[in-house]
Amino acid sequence: MHPPSVDPEYLRFQYGDNERLRVRIETHRRYSERPDDFVDWALGHAALRPGQRLLDVGCGDGGCHAPLCRRGVRVVGLDRSAGMVRAARQRAIAEAAGPPAPVLQGDAQALPIGNACVDRALAAHMLYHVPDVRAALRELRRVLRPGGRVILTTNAADHSQRLYALHAAAARALGYTPTEPPGAHFSLDHLELVREVFPGADRHVRRDAFVFPDAAPALRYYASGRVDGIRERVPDGAHRPALLAAVEARIKEIVAREGAFRVPKDAGCFVADV
Ligand SMILES: C[S@@+](CC[C@H](N)C(=O)[O-])C[C@H]1O[C@@H](n2cnc3c(N)ncnc32)[C@H](O)[C@@H]1O
Repeated sequence: MHPPSVDPEYLRFQYGDNERLRVRIETHRRYSERPDDFVDWALGHAALRPGQRLLDVGCGDGGCHAPLCRRGVRVVGLDRSAGMVRAARQRAIAEAAGPPAPVLQGDAQALPIGNACVDRALAAHMLYHVPDVRAALRELRRVLRPGGRVILTTNAADHSQRLYALHAAAARALGYTPTEPPGAHFSLDHLELVREVFPGADRHVRRDAFVFPDAAPALRYYASGRVDGIRERVPDGAHRPALLAAVEARIKEIVAREGAFRVPKDAGCFVADV
């Protein structure tokens, strides 16, 4: 079985609609130690100007599209999931001041657009879901105009390791085999891989942590994805109640002892000009 981060059947479940992604984005917004927004930080490396065309690959529900359109950037979204494409289109219509950003359905490994036709290519927290990361990087390179820029955001390899360690211990105690976290497939450690396709790529690291005052929001975050990181996971989710209960008990112990559950979650981006 594939690890969940690249398993097509699991990705259909995980991104069939934007519910689980919405929980995670909301958790980052409310419980991050840093007050500034990650997406704003990452786009700060894009040197965007009005009139530029930006392709957002693996755009999810396209949270950054309307704000960018308002700045005059011509955004095109793309996602493999039909549910995400629907959510991004609805959001674009609801939030746009002018014409909504178009959103295509497609795969990062074979982008359905021509050569050299965008000024900026963004792949935000999505390459760890792509089986052939090199193919996706080559596609991002292909669609960029000379003078264009790519921005690839991802997590540090040890992002939320403290939560993952609780999960792995609970999984083993229940007789399951925990799978490796998504960072094993593509993380900030993969600069050399990125440089195979974008030789001038730089890495920018952003230190941050969750600070959960009690177990409930940490558990909602865990339930939105990490809980499924076992080899024996089943589509009906029968493994979840016992794992959730075990991890909740451990988080409550930590909050009682330390006053909060702090989970380091460094992330960042690779940036390259072509
Ligand atoms: C973690 S979400 C990130 C969404 C958004 N970029 C963000 O930062 O909020 C990953 C997204 O990548 C999409 N995705 C996964 N594999 C893909 C692929 N091969 N091609 C295009 N999109 C893909 C998923 O459907 C999902 O919407």
